[in-house]
Amino acid sequence: MNQASDNRGRVTLRGIRKSFGSFEALKGVDLDIEAVEFFALLGPSGSGKTTTLRVLAGLETPDEGVMTLDDADVTYAQPGERDVAMVFQNYALYPHMTLEANIGFPLKMDGVPKDQIPGLVREAAAKVKIDHLLHRRPGQLSGGQQQRCALARAIVRQPRLFLLDEPLSNLDAQLRLETRVELKKLQRSLDVTTVYVTHDQEEAMTIADRMAVFLDGNIAQVGTPEEVFNTPRNVDVAAFIGSPPMNILKGHLDGTKVSIGDYAFNLPAAVARSPGEVVVGIRPSHIAIAQEGLPASLYLSENLGESMLLNFDVGDQLVKVRLPEVCRFADNETVRLKFDPGHVHLFDPQSGTRID
Ligand SMILES: Nc1ncnc2c1ncn2[C@@H]1O[C@H](COP(=O)(O)OP(=O)(O)OP(=O)(O)O)[C@@H](O)[C@H]1O
Ligand SMILES: [Mg+2]
Repeated sequence: MNQASDNRGRVTLRGIRKSFGSFEALKGVDLDIEAVEFFALLGPSGSGKTTTLRVLAGLETPDEGVMTLDDADVTYAQPGERDVAMVFQNYALYPHMTLEANIGFPLKMDGVPKDQIPGLVREAAAKVKIDHLLHRRPGQLSGGQQQRCALARAIVRQPRLFLLDEPLSNLDAQLRLETRVELKKLQRSLDVTTVYVTHDQEEAMTIADRMAVFLDGNIAQVGTPEEVFNTPRNVDVAAFIGSPPMNILKGHLDGTKVSIGDYAFNLPAAVARSPGEVVVGIRPSHIAIAQEGLPASLYLSENLGESMLLNFDVGDQLVKVRLPEVCRFADNETVRLKFDPGHVHLFDPQSGTRID
């Protein structure tokens, strides 16, 4: 049971619903997570990520739906019956115990023979580089060290499923970047299915094999980070992914021709769709300033050090443009914006779904 294997930790969720009072936090979540996958749950605050993770852990019972773990129905199984380990955002370490006792606690609960515990604890602590701190208590550690202790306590049992709820959010920016690299390395070395909750897109994009985008209690899209970034399934995902996300504008489509007001350009290939209104999406880095294009008035420019983020008024809409080099513009200066036709995304104005 404690052996890592390539086929452990397969999860399915089918039609999971969960309400708190009259508020429906999960509105029918379907999900397939494969063995040994690093899977991120990404979405804005309140979208249902933690609730989903708690359903996976058995800390929350769904009102409707089924969860399986390696083909067994575990919908109503207690947390202790699932062989899962969870790292909470606030770490939830026992303050009165040493790190050694904290990390060894799950082994003690599992009835692992006493003489085997110190070796297993040391091994887990070494994996997260805190084996020199085992005699200390949590209060005598930095935030980053406490976070490692919580990780070590979770991995010491080699769980079937490793669940992490925003595990880096209490660390400073520099440490977050370092720790996320180590976490990815650790997950690879452990070969354990990992579900990772974050509202930080960059974190999800860099760390996950695949991710689910949560919006408002539903999963809006599942895919690799590249798939979600390059081909958002609908306007809502498009308007969420990217920092800043895609510009979304009202336009008109006729064959290859897209028009936004008086500005028109041709797509590389015609879209099989009768002429009519469309929603046009384009990322800030796929717009250039040119002689000809969409007239825009500068609202505010932001110097990001290595690049510029320009905010333009276009009619009643705001358009963001990212330029690779720092340059100077005066507020209210009028320029023309040229869209890169190869990077334009189109969506149906009624349903919001992607048009390919
Ligand atoms: N125990 C509870 N009682 C009442 N409402 C709850 C409870 N747990 C969660 N909710 C509500 O359910 C919704 C989803 O919560 P959840 O914690 O899953 O969001 P989240 O995506 O993890 O957000 P965040 O990024 O802020 O952690 C929220 O609106 C939240 O207020
Ligand atoms: Mg949460």
